[in-house]
Formats: sequence, structure tokens, C-alpha cells
Amino acid sequence: MAARKVFLSFLLSLIFTASSAINLDVNSANSIKATARTLAGAIVDVYNGQNAGFTPGLFDIPIVRDEVHFWEAGAIWTSLIEYSHLTGDSQHDDLIATALEFQVGEQRNYMPKNQTMNITNDDQSRWALAALTAAEVGFKKPQSGEWLDLAKTVFDNQVLRWDTERCNGGLRFHIFESGAESSWDMKDSVSNGGFFLLGARLARLTGNESYYEWADRSFKWSQDVGLIGEDYLVYNVASLNKECSVPKTSPWLQSHAIFAEGAAVMFSLTDEPKWKDAVSGFAISVKAFQAEGTSILSDDSTCEKNGSCAGRLSPFTGIAASAYARAVVAASTQAGDFYEMLQASAKGAAQYCHWYGADMRCGKKWDEEDLEAPTAVDGGLGRVFSALEVVQALLRFMPESTSTETSPTPTASGSHKGSADRVQMDQSLSGIVFKGHVVQGMLFREPTLRPERSAVMEVSRAASEGEVGKMNDDLAV
Ligand SMILES: *[C@@H]1O[C@H](CO)[C@@H](O)[C@H](O)[C@H]1NC(C)=O
Ligand SMILES: *[C@@H]1O[C@H](CO)[C@@H](O)[C@H](O)[C@H]1NC(C)=O
Ligand SMILES: *[C@@H]1O[C@H](CO)[C@@H](O)[C@H](O)[C@H]1NC(C)=O
Ligand SMILES: *[C@@H]1O[C@H](CO)[C@@H](O)[C@H](O)[C@H]1NC(C)=O
Repeated sequence: MAARKVFLSFLLSLIFTASSAINLDVNSANSIKATARTLAGAIVDVYNGQNAGFTPGLFDIPIVRDEVHFWEAGAIWTSLIEYSHLTGDSQHDDLIATALEFQVGEQRNYMPKNQTMNITNDDQSRWALAALTAAEVGFKKPQSGEWLDLAKTVFDNQVLRWDTERCNGGLRFHIFESGAESSWDMKDSVSNGGFFLLGARLARLTGNESYYEWADRSFKWSQDVGLIGEDYLVYNVASLNKECSVPKTSPWLQSHAIFAEGAAVMFSLTDEPKWKDAVSGFAISVKAFQAEGTSILSDDSTCEKNGSCAGRLSPFTGIAASAYARAVVAASTQAGDFYEMLQASAKGAAQYCHWYGADMRCGKKWDEEDLEAPTAVDGGLGRVFSALEVVQALLRFMPESTSTETSPTPTASGSHKGSADRVQMDQSLSGIVFKGHVVQGMLFREPTLRPERSAVMEVSRAASEGEVGKMNDDLAV
């Protein structure tokens, strides 16, 4: 079915030259929701994993210029969980839950056998963040176990891989030395940033200090080794063969955003000045990722300038947009500036998405039209994903965004000048006591909890009921 549909839309995309753009009113929740619905629908339309001969969770699209990687699929499922949560439209929930469960792997740690040849720590944490997002929003329960336990297991795996033999710590990029590429001898910012973010969000959700301590350690290591610069720009890799040196040629958007989100979460947990400085620092250095003369997010600095990345990097802007939006919610006083950027970017992203026959195509850039843009089914899926992420991110700041009846009215943060009236906390849970603080900054509503109930109690109950997250010593390298 889907294969045929895909083929048909490919044909249509050849036939139709006229196209219709998406009009987005960034100040209207209804317009944002309608746009998100269109984009989410365009993603689900090209997905064929539920059909015979294809694999649930993966996007093995037959006609495609550029394969959709394992980590990218994890990011796409995360965006669809967020979509369901932020819009209240649950039509894709079954598809999402099936995909997330099918890829858990034999050890329930998002290392399915098919991926082990090449799997990297950031692949694994990208899927763990999908499961953690599901846990945070109270997404439809999996057939067995708990979403939270999947995220915990991945975290525990990565703790065991923390390697002090080279560069005094950090995670390598590849999990196994047999990895196809010569990337065994590097420690990268996306893997270490993913571990940091997973730790920070697990600390927030569970109140367990052990996650906080690991997140703290991993951030400090990333600074010491130079992956995070003094100016809070973030770079790609430390080379083990070159005395752990970090080439400072191109700042790395995806890692910048995930470190920014994690720092905002850490700040919300502790109020410590070092996290405050970090969030403010990231909010300043993000300018390196804005199109010249605008506040529109752009991946130019990494590789678009010389055109060397083709379609490859296009999901990074979406991953980044989502992380920056979460940073604003966690620490609006320090990260409020990200909001203006997101609003301008969403406008651009929607403007350059067009229907092309029955298929959607979105530009890689959000500040100029790209007439050559491939359609979703023909290699452009990452761009549609990115547009969805940046557009739906705006719903986090709209009081009327979620229609969940159980949710209390969101409270305004009130402290960020300029957009204080717009920056609303997407929160309802205020019961977690962490390091002596009552944590107010929950990123998501947790519809299954009543506000008066302590989240710590709730989580420890869940943990004692189904502690699937045992250490997988055998799998840690
Ligand atoms: C692994 O690959 C096989 C063969 O393509 C497929 O049947 C199976 O469903 C895949 N499993 C996962 C978890 O991707
Ligand atoms: C490993 O990754 C490389 C480059 O992305 C790819 O060419 C190769 O097919 C992958 N190998 C496996 C076993 O997945
Ligand atoms: C806190 O998390 C750590 C690391 O996963 C785990 O070993 C420990 O048992 C947890 N503590 C509690 C009280 O749940
Ligand atoms: C493009 O830029 C990247 C990142 O700076 C660099 O690695 C690559 O060699 C450049 N390619 C060309 C053709 O200049």
C-alpha cells in the first residue's frame, strides 16, 4: 500500500510543477496546530514500516536519494510524540508506540542486532530520548515494561562506557571497535551531549541525584577537553590520536542545542550560577547559527557554506529547534532569547514548505527559497521533520496549546523581558524536591499524575514495580 502510494506521489511530483505553500500565523495556536498536522501527516505518509516486507520503526523508503539513518528515525519518532502531546492529536499514537517498541532490541536498550555493526552512543541516546520523552508526557504505555526504564537502561549502559583511559573521561563515538568507519578513535560532542541531556532529564523526572552527578561530570569533561569552548560554542570531536585535541574549525549546531537544553534543565534543578552562566552563554553563542542579519536558525557554519553536506544535515535544525524550545521552558529567564529565534525560524520554515503533488517538500534553509528541494519521499524527509519541530515548538509558549482537560492553566514565567507575555511554562507538576529545591520547571505535563501527588513518590513506586533497567554489563564496552 504505502509503497504504491510512495510511487504515486513520486510520479505526481514529476508531473506537478505548481505548488502551494503553507501559510503559518505564528501568533495563532490554531494555525500552528494545523501546520503541524500537515507536516506530521506528510511524515507519516512516507512511512511504510507497518507494511509487510518493511521494518517497524525504520524509514526504508524505496525511492530515496539519501537513506534515513537509525538515529534520524529516533529523532522523527520523538517529534511525533511531541506532536501528539502538544496538539492533542493522537491519531498517530499507535504507529509511534509500535515503532518505539519494535526497535528496543534484545536487551531493551535500543541496540537492536541489525544496528550493532555501526551503532554509536548518540544513536542509542537519540532513541533513549524518544523513550524518555514518552515517559515525560505520559504517552500511551508500551505493551511491556515502561518507557522510563528504557531510558534508564541506556543511561546505565553509557555510564559503564565512560572511559577514563583516554582524555580523562568521556564516551567514544562508536560503541564497538568493529564499527565500519575509522571513527573509533574519537570522542564526540553529540554522544557526550546526548549522555549529558539524558542524565539531566532523568534527574529531573526521577529526582535521583546519581543522574545529576553524571550529567555534571560529563558537562565538566566536555568543557575540560574543549568540546565546549569558553565562549560556549560547541565543536564536533576530540581526536584520540591527536592527544584529545579538538579542531575548532566549525561549531556544531546539534551539540550546541542539546548542551543548551541540558544546562537549562540543570539550572532549573539547582539554581547554581555555573548553570546560569552556561545557559546565558549558549543563548549568546547561538548567534553563530543564525542566518546573517536575521535571527533565523541556520546550519551554515557547519557545512552548508561550501555545499558539502547535501541533504544530510537537514534534521539537525529540527533537533536543535526542539532542544532550544525545551531550554526556554526549563529556564526562561536565561534562555528567553531563543524564543525570538524560534518564532522567526518557524515562520521561514513553513513558508518554504510546499505541497508538490501529494508529496511535501521543505527547504533546507529557513531564510530563502530552495527550488531544488527534494520531496519527503525523495530524500527530503529530514527537512519536513525539521519544519515540524520548529513549528510545533511554538505551541510550548501558548497557553491554549494543549487541550488536556486534566491540565491546570499554565502559569506565565513573568521574568523574561520582551516576550514575557508569550513565554509560558508548559508545566503542571511542581512536587519534585531536588537538592533542596522544589522544582517548578517540569518540561511537560504529566497527565497521569495529580498535581498534589509527589512526583518523587510516583516515580519511585514505578521504579520498584518494574525495574527492567538492570545494568547490562555484558554490553558495555
Ligand atoms: C532486522 O532485520 C531483519 C531483516 O531485514 C528484519 O526482518 C527485522 O525485523 C529487523 N529487526 C529490527 C529490530 O530492525
Ligand atoms: C555502516 O555505515 C556505513 C556508512 O554510513 C555504511 O556504508 C555501511 O553500510 C554500514 N554498515 C552496516 C553493517 O550497517
Ligand atoms: C539512582 O540511579 C542510579 C543510576 O541508575 C541507580 O543505580 C540507583 O539505584 C538509583 N537510586 C535510587 C534511589 O533509585
Ligand atoms: C567543506 O567544509 C567542511 C567543513 O568545514 C570541510 O571538511 C570540507 O573539506 C569542505 N569541502 C570543500 C569541498 O571545501
